Amino acid sequence: MPSHPSAHVVRLGVLGHGVVGSAFVALVSQQSDDILARSGVRLEVAQVCIRDTKKKHTLPKGAVLVSDPYAVVQSSEVDLVVELMGGIDPASELIFAALNANKPVVTANKALLARHGAELFSAADAASTDLLFEAAVCGGIPLIRPLRESLRGEPITRVMGIVNGTTNFILTKMSELGADYQVALAEAQQLGFAEADPTADVQGHDAAAKIAIIASIAFGTTVRADDVYCEGITKITAADIAIAHKFGFAVKLLGVAELISKSSKLSVRVHPALVPLTNPLAAVRESFNAVVVDGRASGSLMFYGRGAGGEPTASAVLGDVIDAAINLRKGTHAPLGAFTEAKLLPISEINCEYMIGLEVADKPGVLHAVTGVFARNSVSIRAAEQDGIGSDARLVFLTHDAKESAVQSCLTEFKSLDVVKHVGALLRVVAG
Ligand code: HSE
Repeated sequence: MPSHPSAHVVRLGVLGHGVVGSAFVALVSQQSDDILARSGVRLEVAQVCIRDTKKKHTLPKGAVLVSDPYAVVQSSEVDLVVELMGGIDPASELIFAALNANKPVVTANKALLARHGAELFSAADAASTDLLFEAAVCGGIPLIRPLRESLRGEPITRVMGIVNGTTNFILTKMSELGADYQVALAEAQQLGFAEADPTADVQGHDAAAKIAIIASIAFGTTVRADDVYCEGITKITAADIAIAHKFGFAVKLLGVAELISKSSKLSVRVHPALVPLTNPLAAVRESFNAVVVDGRASGSLMFYGRGAGGEPTASAVLGDVIDAAINLRKGTHAPLGAFTEAKLLPISEINCEYMIGLEVADKPGVLHAVTGVFARNSVSIRAAEQDGIGSDARLVFLTHDAKESAVQSCLTEFKSLDVVKHVGALLRVVAG
């Protein structure tokens, strides 16, 4: 029973009791008195829905274990739904059902928001209730709320960052120890960062979902995961990283959402990028995440921390739950606002500097043939480096600002040259 004289009890229905769900339920119990003292709201975990009812689950006193998630959403004993089960179905239907029943929803479901965010945002606004999702992007790092609230008047020009901890861990090992990709991946799997099937992380799909959500909120426009140009880290070698270092760059998998002023279009993309060693993102190591928001008035802001894990993610969920509970008490909500359809710039139209590595025969005329390709496509070389690899050579070029389509034409031509044995990873430079 609430001990606070003006306590307002909000009963939570928690869908999912996995890594994040169990950490959230435990955190609510630990923090309950402090939350009451600071906000006047008493959070009670009323129902917890789990898939495997045979497994042992430790729940707080008074919480009921339920196996049917629809029963939780529809229950008259639940005021607020916390969706931590993940996946598209049935999470989508459950969230719509909760919103339609005027119950606020807090979710960490990145895949769902990156696919159906626009529809869910409209349903929440139509029901005049909260749909909060800080934990869906970069775990414990506050990013969605600063973008939605503190920066709501800011002319944002770019949001970019390291939004996947697994790939940042792998790239850190490759960079600092010279480890091969497969060795670094195996270590990430052993430590529990990478899944047994690491596809979603290493191919950039997880980062694409996150940058889609970030772009939607930062620019007030609907960007879906499928709209994001996406390249992973599987083609990056320790040699690429070492050469990038010589040119003054770190290699990071970045999610980028950038307003291109010339066309007023958004470029939203995920790819391995060359980050100047002087940029704070270059110093983000291991499995940490960091996002830099550039605004015309605010300048650069950096958000750094743990992007995954039970407790950091539960912390973000709890912050949202407290906000939604306070709003429920006041009979108000935080509107998500209007979202326009995004005008997206295809990757072929972006301009930046590039690093291109080629393995070539080490004999007269090869450099001439290769540089001729750059010249024919109007791509200007800024720096070049040659290393011997047995009877062959590795040529690495750093270009001046060039159009992606012209650089892609160069790659196609390189592949058709007899003297070029292998065309390595293409790395795009992000401006400091
Ligand atoms: N697998 C993700 C990462 C965390 O490595 O950052 C969940 O989005």
